[in-house]
Amino acid sequence: MSSIFKLEVGGDRLATLTFDLPGKKLNVFNRAALTELEEVIDAAAARRQEIGCLILLSGKPSGFIAGADLDEIERVTDPTEAEAGSRTGQRLFAAWEALPFPTVAAIRGVCLGGGTELALASTWRAASDSPGTRVGLPEVRLGILPGWGGSTRLPRLIGIAAALDLILTGKTVSGRQAAKLGLVDALLPDPRFLDLVRDFALERVDSSRQGGRAPGGLKGALLERNPLGRRIVFDQARKTTLEQTRGQYPAPLRAIEVVRTAVEGGPRAGFEAEARAVADLAISPIAKNLVHVFRLTEDAKKETGAPGGAPRPVREVAVLGAGTMGGGIAQLIAQEADLPVRLKDVNFQALAQGLEHAAALYRRLVKRRRIKPVEVRRKMALLHPTLDYSGFGRVDLVIEAIVEKLEVKQAVFAELAGHVPAGAVLASNTSSLSIGRIRERTPQPERVVGMHFFNPVHRMPLVEVIAPEGADPSAVNTVFAFTRQLGKTPVLVADAPGFLVNRLLMFYTIEAFWLLDEGHRIEDLDRAMTEWGMPIGPLALTDEVGIDVAAKVAHILGDAFAHRTQTPGWLDRLPEHGRLGVKNGRGIYRYEGRERKNPDPEVYRILGLVPRISHPDLGALAERMVLPMVNEAALCLEERVVRSAADLDLALIFGTGFPPFRGGLCRWADQQGLPRIVATLERLESVGGGRFEPSSALRATAQAGGFYARFDNKA
Ligand code: NAI
Repeated sequence: MSSIFKLEVGGDRLATLTFDLPGKKLNVFNRAALTELEEVIDAAAARRQEIGCLILLSGKPSGFIAGADLDEIERVTDPTEAEAGSRTGQRLFAAWEALPFPTVAAIRGVCLGGGTELALASTWRAASDSPGTRVGLPEVRLGILPGWGGSTRLPRLIGIAAALDLILTGKTVSGRQAAKLGLVDALLPDPRFLDLVRDFALERVDSSRQGGRAPGGLKGALLERNPLGRRIVFDQARKTTLEQTRGQYPAPLRAIEVVRTAVEGGPRAGFEAEARAVADLAISPIAKNLVHVFRLTEDAKKETGAPGGAPRPVREVAVLGAGTMGGGIAQLIAQEADLPVRLKDVNFQALAQGLEHAAALYRRLVKRRRIKPVEVRRKMALLHPTLDYSGFGRVDLVIEAIVEKLEVKQAVFAELAGHVPAGAVLASNTSSLSIGRIRERTPQPERVVGMHFFNPVHRMPLVEVIAPEGADPSAVNTVFAFTRQLGKTPVLVADAPGFLVNRLLMFYTIEAFWLLDEGHRIEDLDRAMTEWGMPIGPLALTDEVGIDVAAKVAHILGDAFAHRTQTPGWLDRLPEHGRLGVKNGRGIYRYEGRERKNPDPEVYRILGLVPRISHPDLGALAERMVLPMVNEAALCLEERVVRSAADLDLALIFGTGFPPFRGGLCRWADQQGLPRIVATLERLESVGGGRFEPSSALRATAQAGGFYARFDNKA
C-alpha cells in the first residue's frame, strides 16, 4: 500500500494519481517517492483494462512538484552514483511515458525541475492560470542540468531556442506563458481547475498517446529543421551564455551540448548525454556551492529578526529625501507593498526629480511588460510629494534618506518625532553614520533603527537592518518584516562602523588603492576581480559609489579601525580635481553618459603614479584584495556585527554580487583552509606591513576549524 502516491480508478475509465509526500509542505522526489512511483506505475499499467486516461495531481495546496530532493544533490560525491541517480529518474519517467493509456499532468502552483520533467513525459499537460503557478527547470542555478529526460524532451516539445531559454536561465514561467510556449496544452481557470482538468482528461479517455504540437512555431521550425539554422541557434546560445557567465558556470554550457546531442542524435543519445553531464556536474564544488547558496536564501526566508518583539503592521509610510535612494525606495514601496507613501524633501526641484526617478523605473517595467500603463498611473498616484509634514500623523514607518551629515540627521529625527504617532518606527538609510548617534536627540529613541538599502535600490536584493543598543525589538522586527514585504532580503546587523557590507568592501577597495599605488594598472585590478567572479571591479565600483563618498567612508572607518584602514595619501585628490565618478561623468574611468569607457590616463598623473607593471598574475592580485575581507569577516563575526557565517555570506552575495559559485566569502575561505590563509597573510605582512596582520579572530577561527564550524549559531 503506497503512502506517497494514491491511485484511484473511477467507473468512467478516468483514473487519478495523487502525489502527497507526508510531512512536507511541497512534493519533492526523494528516494522513497521515486521507489513508490515505480511501484505505482507498474500497478497502473497492470490495470490497463480499467484505465482510459490517468491524471497526475498534487495533494499539496501550494504546488505540484518542486523537483528533486536537494539533500540528495548535496550529498552525492561519487560520479557513478550521480549518473545512476540520473538514469533512475530517466527510467522511471520513460516507464511513465510508455504507459498504455494517455496521461495528463495537472499543474497548479510550483512545478520545478523533476516535476516539469515528469510533466514533459506525460501525454498532455494542463496548467492553472493562478499567479502561484510557475513552471521551470532551475537546475542550472544549482550547477547541474535537467537530467531526468527534461533536456531531451523539452526541445522536441517547444523548439530548440525556447527550450534553451528556459534551461539556460533556469527561469520560471506562468501557466499563461507556458501555454503560449506550447509547454502546456491547456490553460485552465484556477477556481474550477480540478473540474476542468477532469473534463480535459475525459475527452482524452482511450485517445491516442500522441500529445503535444509541432514545436517552435513556423519560424522556429523553419530555422531549426535545417542543420545550418540549428547551428546558428546553438552558436548564439553559446555566445550569450559565455557573455553572461564569463565561463565561470559550467552547467549552462554543458546543457547546450546535451540539448544539441538530443536534437541531433535522438532521445537515446540525449538521455545518455544527460546522465554523463550530471555525473560530472553534480559532484563539482560549484554545484555544492550553488546548492549551499540556495539553502542560505531559503533559510533566510524563515528568519524573523531580533528576539522578543512582534512586528507591527505598516499601512502608510513616509520617505524623507527624494534623492537617488529616497526616490528609489518610494517607488519600491508603491510597487511591492502597494502602500501610500509621503515623499518629503526640502525643495521642490528635488521632489520633481524624485518622482521622475520613480516614473523612469516604471517606464522600464512597462517596456519589459512587467506592468500595464494603467496600473502605473495607479501606483504613481500612491506617491504623495510634500515639502512639509502634512499627512505624517498617520504613518507607521518613516524611512530617512537625506544628506549624510550627522548633525542634519539628528536635527531632522528630533523634529520628525513631533509629527508622527508615538508608535511610529523611524528608520535611517545611512550608509556610514552610527544609528545610536543619529537618535541622540529623538524622543523615544528606542524606536530608531537602521534600514540600509543598496544602490540601485530596485536591483540590489539586500537590506541591512541595524539594531542599535537598546532598540525596541518590535521596531527592529517591523523593519525586518517590511523589508521582506518589499521583496528584499533582510539581514540583521549591529550598529558598528560601516555596518557589515560596506566595512568588508572598504578593506577590499583600500587594497585595490594600494595595488594601484604600487604601479598596477587600473584595468588589471578590475579585471582580476571580475575574472574572480565579482560583477564589477573595485575601482569601477568606486566610480559607481562616488569617489567623494568612498573617500568619506574610508575616513570614517579610518577613525574606527586605525592602522588597518590606512589609505594611500592621495585618496582625496581625485574629488579635489572634480572627479566624483559616474555621477558627474568623470572618475577613474572615462564615461559617455553613464556608460563606462576606458580608464582615464589623466588619473595616474593626478595621483603622481606610474603604471609600470605589465601582465601581473591576476589570481594573486585577486587573492590580495579578497584576503583582507576574510580577515575582517572574522572580526565582524567575533564582534557580533553579524550573527552567523551564513548571514555574512548571504549579505555579501546579495549586497555586492559576491560570486555565488564560490558559495560566499566564509565558505570560500573555509574551502581554501584558514591555516593556509593565515600563512598567506603572514607572508604579505612581512612585505606589505601591518594591515595584513592576521587578526586574533581569524587565528581563533582557524583553530576552531573554520567559519562555519565556529559561527553557525545565531542565538
Ligand atoms: P542624494 O543627495 O541623492 O539625496 C538626498 C536628498 O535629501 C536630496 O534630495 C536633498 O534635497 C534631501 N534633503 C536634504 N535635507 C533634507 C531634509 N532635512 N528633509 C528632507 N529632505 C532633505 O543622496 P542619496 O545618495 O540618496 O543618499 C541619501 C542617504 O542614503 C544618505 O544617508 C546615504 O548615506 C544613504 N545611502 C546612499 C547610497 C548611495 O549609493 N547613494 C547607498 C545607501 C545609502
